[in-house]
Amino acid sequence: MDTNLKHALEELKKSKHIIAFTGAGISQESGIPTFRGSGGGFWRNFRLEEVATPQAFLKNPRLVWDFYLERRKLAKEVQPNAAHKAFAAWEKIFPFVGVVTQNIDGLHEQAGSRNIQELHGSLWRSKCSRCGKTVQDLNLTYSELPHCRDCGGLMRPDIVWFGEELNPNTINQALEWMRKADLIFVIGTSGVVEPAASFVRGAKRYGAFIAEVNVEETALTYVADLFLRGKSSEIFSSLSEAITQPT
Ligand code: APR
Repeated sequence: MDTNLKHALEELKKSKHIIAFTGAGISQESGIPTFRGSGGGFWRNFRLEEVATPQAFLKNPRLVWDFYLERRKLAKEVQPNAAHKAFAAWEKIFPFVGVVTQNIDGLHEQAGSRNIQELHGSLWRSKCSRCGKTVQDLNLTYSELPHCRDCGGLMRPDIVWFGEELNPNTINQALEWMRKADLIFVIGTSGVVEPAASFVRGAKRYGAFIAEVNVEETALTYVADLFLRGKSSEIFSSLSEAITQPT
């Protein structure tokens, strides 16, 4: 085990309140392309302005739904990997393990994590663009665009689009978890999207030990106390194995 991994293991062993702050990179080895950096892919088939803004939805709801239905189909085909599974398993070992994720793929929940804040919403929920009612939505195709059962308004993916506010309850809970954390793993995020990235900078001021896991340095590396270069599934496989070894 290399020095940095040993350091991470030491921090893990003395922690009680652990947070995984995750981005698209944690799902990359499950087969879901990231947006930026190595392994990037999704946005290259679609221009952001055409699919991930309220204006795009107003202008062309069919194109926006097709984009998210395509992402649902892919997310349905893939499985959580060892990194997702580690945090789910650690909920049973440590006093508190929480996930604050920018991802919408649902893989943390599928892996078995229960303490999850989805900062950018979920692929598996839709919301009425008129009355705001949200429903679970597992449909992979829509021949006709979906409408709200209550008010007839056009349904939209329950995703936080560029220029939209995050859910205040989600923000408050995520910030509370990160302020109380002893140890925060920042995993697979380029750290360029706000306000999510500011949550990590803020947690630093509250004294959390911050360990970043990424295949390359990012906009948040300067905040990290420890940088673990590598693929998240490999790093968390090693840590999971080591944490269950008798000391
Ligand atoms: N292990 C660890 N990190 C990885 C791996 C891997 N196997 N593969 C890729 N990465 C890293 C990349 O180096 C990059 O730093 O994952 C990061 C992915 O960055 P982005 O694609 O920018 O994803 P993310 O940071 O989650 O994007 C934030 O932007 O498009 C919006 O709303 C969307 O939630 C998303 C937000």
